[in-house]
Amino acid sequence: MQPKTRKFPNQALGAKIFHSVNIISLFLMLTSGLQIYNANPVFGGRAGFHIPPIFTLGGWLAGGRHWHFAAMWLFSVNLLWYGIYILITRRWRHRFVGTNDLKALQKSQNPKRLIYAWHRIVYTSIIPISLLAILTGIGMYKPAQFPWIVEMFGDWQALRIVHFASVPLVIIFTIIHSALGRQAGGEQLTESMFW
Ligand code: HEM
Repeated sequence: MQPKTRKFPNQALGAKIFHSVNIISLFLMLTSGLQIYNANPVFGGRAGFHIPPIFTLGGWLAGGRHWHFAAMWLFSVNLLWYGIYILITRRWRHRFVGTNDLKALQKSQNPKRLIYAWHRIVYTSIIPISLLAILTGIGMYKPAQFPWIVEMFGDWQALRIVHFASVPLVIIFTIIHSALGRQAGGEQLTESMFW
């Protein structure tokens, strides 16, 4: 008897491009952001905890800012075109977490369905995380033009803390997302998101 071969998931080209560019730009934002942070740590000021240089990009404050501000275009434009793409293709209606996933979490006894529901909740969460990073980033980039963003978070220090929260959020997201992706569809699902 022929061994049963699993169906290779077929991802849309648009999803693959968004996914790959998002990983690259998030990596650049994260490492250059940590370089900026090191110039004057959000917690504890100059005497506060510094990130080891191996995790930073840019070499010094100005270098980190150059990388951060260049990569922010890649990061934001990638999210923008993907937003337009999922609207036009109506992908948003079935590719993201929905009430069926929430119902499955309450009622399903099928462990695969439960993992899949968590997987969808987690990968959908990168959209609000990215939007929060962009909103707070714009507030820090142009506080004179967008004072309402600073006010929305209270003051400058609160805005910095919320923007900095992108770092642990992105790291935690990456760990859980890749683990659940593997559990939901194995190496094949992971690979299908790239090529
Ligand atoms: C998930 C992606 C991002 C991460 C992980 C991230 C991370 C960081 C970190 C750690 C800092 C240092 C915070 C501090 O010490 O005050 C920072 C600063 C900053 N980020 Fe981001 N960031 C991201 C996205 C963005 C985006 C999309 C923008 C612009 C729209 C942006 C604009 C800025 C600005 C203007 C600063 C302050 C630069 C300075 O004070 O010289 N960031 N970012």
